[in-house]
Amino acid sequence: MFSNKEKKNSQEQLEKEALDPQRIPNHIAVIMDGNGRWAQKRHLPRVVGHKQGMEVVEVITKAASNLGVKVLTLYAFSTENWKRPVDEVNYLMDLPVKFFNRFVPELISHNVQVNVMGDESKLPKKTQVAVHNAIEQTKSCDGMILNFALNYGSRTEIVEATKKIARDVKDEQLDESQINDEIFAKYLMSEQLHPYNDPDLLIRTSGEQRISNFLLWQIAYSELVFTEVYWPDYKPQNLYEDILKFQQRNRRFGGIKA
Ligand code: FPP
Repeated sequence: MFSNKEKKNSQEQLEKEALDPQRIPNHIAVIMDGNGRWAQKRHLPRVVGHKQGMEVVEVITKAASNLGVKVLTLYAFSTENWKRPVDEVNYLMDLPVKFFNRFVPELISHNVQVNVMGDESKLPKKTQVAVHNAIEQTKSCDGMILNFALNYGSRTEIVEATKKIARDVKDEQLDESQINDEIFAKYLMSEQLHPYNDPDLLIRTSGEQRISNFLLWQIAYSELVFTEVYWPDYKPQNLYEDILKFQQRNRRFGGIKA
């Protein structure tokens, strides 16, 4: 007889084997939603959901890296999340500290490099230090990039890029006639992820079907997958299923079917 754990592992293995290893998305972005509802369903404080969400980040990072994903972008804190109660914001700001303290050696052993996109200057000092240390400690890892969107908002990113372009035109570093999609993209924070600036697959958990100011420029041709699963319940098996959905799509980038 198989134990439940063995059954779960073999099911997970089957889901993994159903994937075409040649068509693993290079860049996966995730809106990790549903932490609060996961906790409320269990009559627990919302922050317990965030804590469990952090554990899931660890598991999904390893699963994505093992599949050969090149960039995993996780929406950890949006520019709008400051509107939450101060205790919850403080807890969320402490999570990168907890996460990196515990998980950096394992990231290194998986050859994962940490990157952060967002306005770091507004983060508490302890969060900034944790982030900078993690970036520094993993900078020579050349496997998957684990890219945290932290105090990130896409409209701000686009406005800031536009300001920089305007300055460069004014300073005659750039001619207006040169500005096109490719040049514009170089001014966005996602240029740090080159050549995988744009997600191939965007996943949002928890049943919500919106983008919430996340990577608005970069997802122009991403495949979108919305899953009912709350982020704290998200398992490698869910990741494999969502990648399978991606592989079953026919990406045309505005062209016609090959
Ligand atoms: C949205 O769920 C989730 C967040 C705003 C925070 C996401 C953060 C994590 C999953 C942990 C990140 C870990 C590290 C290492 C930085 P919600 O609270 O809006 O859920 P709800 O819609 O059910 O209320």
